Amino acid sequence: MTGTFLYVLFPLLIVFSHTSPAAGDDPAFLQSVKLNPMKPRTEKLSHFRFYWHDKVSGPNSTVVNIIQPPTNNKTSPTGFGMVNMIDDTLTEKPEAGSKLLGRAQGFYGVASQEEVGLLMAMNFVFCTGKYNGSTLTILGRNPVFEKVREMPVIGGSGLFRFARGYVQASTHSFDLKTGDAVVEYNVHVLHY
Ligand SMILES: *[C@@H]1O[C@H](CO)[C@@H](O)[C@H](O)[C@H]1NC(C)=O
Ligand SMILES: *[C@@H]1O[C@H](CO)[C@@H](O)[C@H](O)[C@H]1NC(C)=O
Ligand SMILES: *[C@@H]1O[C@H](CO)[C@@H](O)[C@H](O)[C@H]1NC(C)=O
Repeated sequence: MTGTFLYVLFPLLIVFSHTSPAAGDDPAFLQSVKLNPMKPRTEKLSHFRFYWHDKVSGPNSTVVNIIQPPTNNKTSPTGFGMVNMIDDTLTEKPEAGSKLLGRAQGFYGVASQEEVGLLMAMNFVFCTGKYNGSTLTILGRNPVFEKVREMPVIGGSGLFRFARGYVQASTHSFDLKTGDAVVEYNVHVLHY
């Protein structure tokens, strides 16, 4: 029974394999890579805490305004539409002069008409020890007046390849006059 089936099927398979690129017939630019079973990769959960300095004012500002909110504040009482580019410092302690661990490079914009809710898109690039040069990518929603805001870590590079996780941001200080803010970031990330 099985034998007869194969006799019928086999010539068909040959014909098809010549007429269309069959599955398993990978093009040269694409190769699947087998994991080495002798060297299993173990996933680690890392927790980091540092302070993010959004320095809007002064000569050493780390923030550039790209787009101003529309002047008609009836449509944007929250500043809806505003976009800033940042190269913020990440430090060990809340004080600006404390040890520099890395920078937060990217941008945020006010994406909510109802409250000051930011869309954050930034890379944390670390500059210390074994993490020097490794990055984490954060993309998420940040309603800045809530006590704790959670945003996804959607990837990473270097020591953080295949990273995924979340950050929790809570405001440490905010200067209403200048707009300068210091925010505590707690990062939980799975990586190899
Ligand atoms: C700005 O940066 C320069 C060079 O790092 C430093 O000398 C100066 O004190 C800083 N100014 C302020 C206001 O932080
Ligand atoms: C928005 O407009 C209202 C009245 O039109 C005004 O009272 C308020 O101060 C304005 N807010 C800002 C942030 O400009
Ligand atoms: C981090 O890497 C850069 C570039 O590779 C290098 O210049 C710098 O000295 C390194 N810093 C530390 C603290 O290892």
